[in-house]
Amino acid sequence: MPAQEDFSVEQFMDKYEEHVEYNVGETCCYSLSFEELKDLTGEKFEFDNNKRLTYGSIRGSPQLRSLIAEIHSNERVQLTQDNVLITNGAIGANFLVHYAVAGPGDHVICVAPTYQQLSSVPKMFGAEVDLLRLKAKDGFLPNLGELKNMVKSNTKLIVINNPNNPLGSVIPMELLQQIAAFAEENGIRVLSDEVYSPLFHSCEQPKSMCQISASGVTTGSMSKAYSAAGVRLGWIVSQDLRFLETAASRRDYNTISVSMIDDAVACYILKNRKAVLDRNLALCTENLGILSDFIKNSEGRFSFVHEPQGGSVCLLQVNGVKDTERFTGVLATQYKVLCAPGECFDVPGTIRIGYGNSKPELVKALELLTKAYDEFLK
Ligand SMILES: Cc1ncc(COP(=O)(O)O)c(C=O)c1O
Repeated sequence: MPAQEDFSVEQFMDKYEEHVEYNVGETCCYSLSFEELKDLTGEKFEFDNNKRLTYGSIRGSPQLRSLIAEIHSNERVQLTQDNVLITNGAIGANFLVHYAVAGPGDHVICVAPTYQQLSSVPKMFGAEVDLLRLKAKDGFLPNLGELKNMVKSNTKLIVINNPNNPLGSVIPMELLQQIAAFAEENGIRVLSDEVYSPLFHSCEQPKSMCQISASGVTTGSMSKAYSAAGVRLGWIVSQDLRFLETAASRRDYNTISVSMIDDAVACYILKNRKAVLDRNLALCTENLGILSDFIKNSEGRFSFVHEPQGGSVCLLQVNGVKDTERFTGVLATQYKVLCAPGECFDVPGTIRIGYGNSKPELVKALELLTKAYDEFLK
């Protein structure tokens, strides 16, 4: 197997996360406790204490898979539990899709910047990977013409991330349909990592790739929009049952099943998802307002690389600072503020800010960010 690349952002977070006080490196909407969930939803989480702790349902419980199918269904595309496979987080879902699709001799196209897993894993499986760079002139959306030119006879997979981490850009419906139609014409599968969906706070919500394309694949999880990364539960959704069978048979070797307790918690949250999503959309909107005001008042110190339309993260240009890896290291150790350096996404001179976390933490982190910047440039 080809060498594995270091996963920069995960290693950076691991190094500092436990030692900081103000975490704006966090990408999840402010994580919830059971007490808060009870207040928010009016329903208490119950787990049958007489239930035996077996492996549970291998592909995920019918109830959970039906809830996820319901989330991804519309008038035209009605999905059922058969269209859903439960995984250990979206990280497990993405890994499994690549494991099922990409191997030696295959070609994969992946947008960049994005979560590094999406391009590093297919390389690990021996596929050739080309990056489709998202550019300011295209509103940081995939350029369809460029994408078409990159396709080869052995292209198996096009990978997108909607909303995008780290940019917060959202691919609108029309472009998603064009990508899906082009991919289908050429027998290429589209993997859309939708782990930040449905955090569409500043734009219309586009459909999921699994709704748009019969061979399209959507991955998602409980971590970001549902504030429950602690349950480590994600999913793969597709209309293509044959593809799901392949993924399920690969999954037998690395998952068996996901914890039945995590499954039960996920059911409880997804049944009550409206309350959780309302809370998180309001949180992202308010915090993004605070961040925008901070940038406006920063006297040129910071600017948006792209004003986010969805998700809970964005990239800020740190004007006059080239080595943002060093800057964020100083920020973490001396100011106890964590944010990820743009170097983790191959965009030096920038930092990634998560604005879905608690408001007081964001406010304090931004105050310290200015202080650290001024000291750093002295
Ligand atoms: C785009 C993207 N995909 C997948 C993941 C992994 O998420 P999960 O916690 O569901 O494994 C992340 C986490 O940061 C992410 O940003």
